[in-house]
Amino acid sequence: MNMSWLISLLIYPLILITNTEKVSYKGYNMYVISTENEEQGRKLLAVQNQNLKIHFLKQAVNSKLQGLTSVVVSPQSNAAFNAFLRKNNYDFQIITKDFESLLKSEQPRSKRFAVSPNSINFEEYHRHAKINSYLRSLAETYPNITNLLSIGTTTEGRELLGLNISYNDKVKPMILIDAGIHAREWIAPALALYIIQQLVENSNNAKLIKNVDWIVIPLLNPDGYEYTHTTNRLWRKTRSRGKYCFGADPNRNFNFHWGERGSSDDECSDIYRGSKPFSEPEIKAFRDLILRYAANIKLSISLHSFGQLILHPWTYTTNLPANIKELNRLGIHVAETLKNATKANYGVGPVSQVLYYAAGSNIDWIMAVAGINLTYVIELPPQHDNTMQFILPSRFIKDLVSKSFEGIKTFHEYIENVYV
Ligand SMILES: *[C@@H]1O[C@H](CO)[C@@H](O)[C@H](O)[C@H]1NC(C)=O
Ligand SMILES: *[C@@H]1O[C@H](CO)[C@@H](O)[C@H](O)[C@H]1NC(C)=O
Ligand SMILES: *[C@@H]1O[C@H](CO)[C@@H](O)[C@H](O)[C@H]1NC(C)=O
Ligand SMILES: *[C@@H]1O[C@H](CO)[C@@H](O)[C@H](O)[C@H]1NC(C)=O
Ligand SMILES: [Zn+2]
Repeated sequence: MNMSWLISLLIYPLILITNTEKVSYKGYNMYVISTENEEQGRKLLAVQNQNLKIHFLKQAVNSKLQGLTSVVVSPQSNAAFNAFLRKNNYDFQIITKDFESLLKSEQPRSKRFAVSPNSINFEEYHRHAKINSYLRSLAETYPNITNLLSIGTTTEGRELLGLNISYNDKVKPMILIDAGIHAREWIAPALALYIIQQLVENSNNAKLIKNVDWIVIPLLNPDGYEYTHTTNRLWRKTRSRGKYCFGADPNRNFNFHWGERGSSDDECSDIYRGSKPFSEPEIKAFRDLILRYAANIKLSISLHSFGQLILHPWTYTTNLPANIKELNRLGIHVAETLKNATKANYGVGPVSQVLYYAAGSNIDWIMAVAGINLTYVIELPPQHDNTMQFILPSRFIKDLVSKSFEGIKTFHEYIENVYV
């Protein structure tokens, strides 16, 4: 009998057991750390790459090895981590000594928001089943302007749904919106749902669907998303099964410079690129949808959190795309609208320069392979004070999504002006 086979026999049941238990972050400290020079950056990256019981909510440092990082640290690792920060003179702040209690703020404040399957609210974060039933009910109630898109099935057998919002059979320029590719970024699917609700159910927005078609996929990684609700709030990846660990980073799984800088070949890494390009069924389904309508799609927007950023290609190189002027101008215009609406300052730029390398991401592939030249990521703000990271208390959802919709209108206005 082959030894590694024996080991995997022993490991699999263990993985299954540890994966059904709910992870508690009781007593975990959350730090925000400022990295001021290359040496500090390199040292923090080294800690990140050790896979200790330290969760980086954001990759440790940017491509310039500087910036703010937030980290959640287990009680067992806390003393050592704290000593490491002091020894190397990092400027840091402890946001909470009990991360678990922060998570409570995300739960619905009251049951009175529980509503029929046919409507949605923005007082709470919704589960995948609820999101799908809402999309189905819209398709039934508004057959004149919507079509349900069943684009595929996830590893765990969940149905991937999107909505085609289109006024008549005339061929029009199309805007594609996806959200929830990263499981733990809960506010992103919430904004996608708000966009859907406003376009379909609010007749004051009829002009937004008159000359432009919309495809919205509100939850691209439902397996990971459900796992963040049931088991581990900080899960980022899909739930495909590897030899040692579950999941790939779906936003490193596209076949354009796949496996290059800013992705990992370590199954257990949060930025694991997958065993091969398009190994993840969710990403294969997304690819096929985009290729089917690439000729009509003029703009794609991927919703993420956290950051207050409007980002565009490239993620694999710091070189600039050919249409950088247009990308930048439109990005800045959207950032101005968002500033007006939310008071928050949004940064604009290429992912590789503003954040870090992220080869194999969707936006690079969408531009280079699908040929859609206007392709953006919006990193939504976590909270007004920029310290809560993914954890946006449910009482803030409605305000944030309704104000962020102003930025989506600005994108629409540009497509209408240029392509209609
Ligand atoms: C679509 O149908 C709904 C419900 O019947 C109606 O309120 C709405 O005005 C229609 N929209 C368009 C653009 O025809
Ligand atoms: C969206 O619906 C319109 C109108 O029914 C149709 O012409 C178009 O092909 C649909 N697009 C997609 C992506 O399904
Ligand atoms: C996208 O940009 C490339 C490079 O600038 C250009 O060759 C191509 O025609 C553009 N495609 C569209 C659809 O505008
Ligand atoms: C933002 O608000 C200012 C002041 O009201 C206005 O002049 C400007 O046009 C607005 N910009 C955008 C992009 O909405
Ligand atoms: Zn993300």
